[in-house]
Amino acid sequence: MGWLFLKVLLVGMAFSGFFYPLMDFSISGKTRAPQPNIVIILADDMGWGDLGANWAETKDTTNLDKMASEGMRFVDFHAAASTCSPSRASLLTGRLGLRNGVTHNFAVTSIGGLPVNETTLAEVLRQEGYITAMIGKWHLGHHGSYHPNFRGFDYYFGIPYSNDMGCTDAPGYNYPPCPACPQRDGLWRNPGKDCYTDVALPLYENLNIVEQPVNLSSLAQKYAERAVEFIEQASTSGRPFLLYVGLAHMHVPLSVTPPLAHPQSQSLYRASLREMDSLVGQIKDKVDHVARENTLLWFTGDNGPWAQKCELAGSLGPFFGLWQTHQGGSPTKQTTWEGGHRVPALAYWPGRVPANVTSTALLRCCSTPTVGLLESMVSCRLSA
Ligand SMILES: *[C@@H]1O[C@H](CO)[C@@H](O)[C@H](O)[C@H]1NC(C)=O
Ligand SMILES: *[C@@H]1O[C@H](CO)[C@@H](O)[C@H](O)[C@H]1NC(C)=O
Repeated sequence: MGWLFLKVLLVGMAFSGFFYPLMDFSISGKTRAPQPNIVIILADDMGWGDLGANWAETKDTTNLDKMASEGMRFVDFHAAASTCSPSRASLLTGRLGLRNGVTHNFAVTSIGGLPVNETTLAEVLRQEGYITAMIGKWHLGHHGSYHPNFRGFDYYFGIPYSNDMGCTDAPGYNYPPCPACPQRDGLWRNPGKDCYTDVALPLYENLNIVEQPVNLSSLAQKYAERAVEFIEQASTSGRPFLLYVGLAHMHVPLSVTPPLAHPQSQSLYRASLREMDSLVGQIKDKVDHVARENTLLWFTGDNGPWAQKCELAGSLGPFFGLWQTHQGGSPTKQTTWEGGHRVPALAYWPGRVPANVTSTALLRCCSTPTVGLLESMVSCRLSA
């Protein structure tokens, strides 16, 4: 979460003996910086080792590696939880699941969501005059008042939950494979146990379903277009903006455009990683063009890779949980082993966040301080 994170960043830098003089948000100063834009890009099921800057074996993230060299990279940064909904709920509220009530993933059949008495970062920033948008996977409740448009986001474009939680026209790669949606009079092809097939995956724009089933092959392109368009429009509006992008990558089913000619011999995962990297690069390029000096861009992940998906899962880097795997268990997503919640994290803000700095500070996403403190931070530090 932006401001908590900045605070964490400052604390982290203080711990590492680092002080960056430009990073002064003192409330006594007469000349205050304008309210900064905040762009948060959250990858899904991405491994710590999927970031080339973290792990030299990975060669597929040129844009992210460049962002690391132009900003700060946190190598001991942990998501608030090792599954999707709890991690996202903490990111947006600054409170851990035991406090905000989200300790498990929401299902397609869930009628609830992030409790409505919780305050989101988007709500706080909107009160401060921000234009707010969310693009991508929400997964914090999809009925009634749990929808992102009622949780502080002026604009929403994306899927309400994970991309494997519904059939799609072109199912992509997954274990077990989800069947394609049936044609009008077709029958289900023996859906696997972990595959939701009753409801085709919908794509929303605000409160409307604009595509169902989602075409996974064009989703990344659509996200890039909407993000770029939003940044363009928001930056000409004269108001600061929050853009929160919940990528479909690297969650299965993986799908790349154009499809691989020889998926058996080419790594689908790596191709998908490159596609994600390119999507992030497009967003960053737009920020660099229209709002470079005044935008904090933060990239991180919701939890570690999903090992059960075998070669469709990401890289743990060195955190492969030797002891745990010897017991026959998994050290990844859904566990409290390091591979489950130690995630890539980059902060980029030219002139404010130092370039090419690696922080080894132990940091965790978004657990403290409370939203109350966040609110006061935002109003003292951002209001002119
Ligand atoms: C929301 O309500 C629940 C249940 O009463 C409570 O546990 C939680 O702390 C409340 N959240 C806030 C932010 O007050
Ligand atoms: C899905 O998107 C791909 C890539 O843009 C396109 O080639 C394909 O025709 C689309 N499929 C459908 C059913 O619209």
